[in-house]
Amino acid sequence: MLSQCIRKAWLFLAGIIFFKWRNARYIILIGGPGAGKGTQSDLLAPALGIPHLSMGDAFRRQIAAGTELGKQVESTVKSGALVSPELTMAVLSLELTPVGALLDGFPRTHEQAVLLDKLLFRRGNHVEKVILLEVPEADLIERLSLRRTCSNKSCGRTYHTKFAPPNKPDTCDACGSPLYQRPDDVPDSIRERLRVFREQSKPLCDYYQAKGLLTTVSSTNGMDKQQVFAAVLAVIQGKNRS
Ligand code: AP5
Ligand code: MG
Repeated sequence: MLSQCIRKAWLFLAGIIFFKWRNARYIILIGGPGAGKGTQSDLLAPALGIPHLSMGDAFRRQIAAGTELGKQVESTVKSGALVSPELTMAVLSLELTPVGALLDGFPRTHEQAVLLDKLLFRRGNHVEKVILLEVPEADLIERLSLRRTCSNKSCGRTYHTKFAPPNKPDTCDACGSPLYQRPDDVPDSIRERLRVFREQSKPLCDYYQAKGLLTTVSSTNGMDKQQVFAAVLAVIQGKNRS
């Protein structure tokens, strides 16, 4: 009798988990360096109820923890070049949970997009929507050169000394930790990140365009983050297609 109850409870639990996994949502944000992927994800993830997975943050966590993977990717991330597909997939597999994700900065290449599709297919899932945040290059440079990031890794909030300054200079409003400039937010690395984005984004966007998943949302420095958020949310909720 007891074993039958345990079996029924186990089957019920397995059913819930399977249902949740099958209904997991995978939404992708594409955009150049400084396009606002992280800023928008901070607003979208709670609104959609799915976890935010920033590939850059995942690498920075490995680097800060001094892991073997972190040591292998550190100089590449600092330079602004792309990490190899093998190391990227290794770090991604540590972070990607079956409950879905708002993916920020992954995939970045056509090759990574194909790998992601295969991985999700094996789990009975698929990519639901892909949003390209389109920002003029001059705006991206202005955003990155004046961005400041909270040094407390469990906070990681970002600011902009002109567009989104902290209340007290160089101090995080949320946790009081000092702000710092990311080592890849310096001119040489910014140039390299822009070059990589120019090179990789067309084949990546063409791939999702052909699948009918891509929508472009414009975001210039004249628009505030709430305006961009409203536009992106409308696309995800199927209220707007451009
Ligand atoms: P990653 O950390 O993802 O860097 P990135 O793509 O260059 O993007 P950022 O994080 O710099 O910008 P963001 O779009 O998040 O902008 P944010 O919201 O902060 O990747 C770092 C590195 O990791 C890569 O260079 C590579 O080496 C490696 N890597 C990562 N993914 C990889 C992959 N898939 N494969 C291989 N290697 C990979 O906003 C920027 C600033 O603008 C902020 O100050 C913000 O306040 C401000 N801002 C935001 N919105 C607005 C607005 N509407 N108006 C004015 N200012 C705004
Ligand atoms: Mg980011």
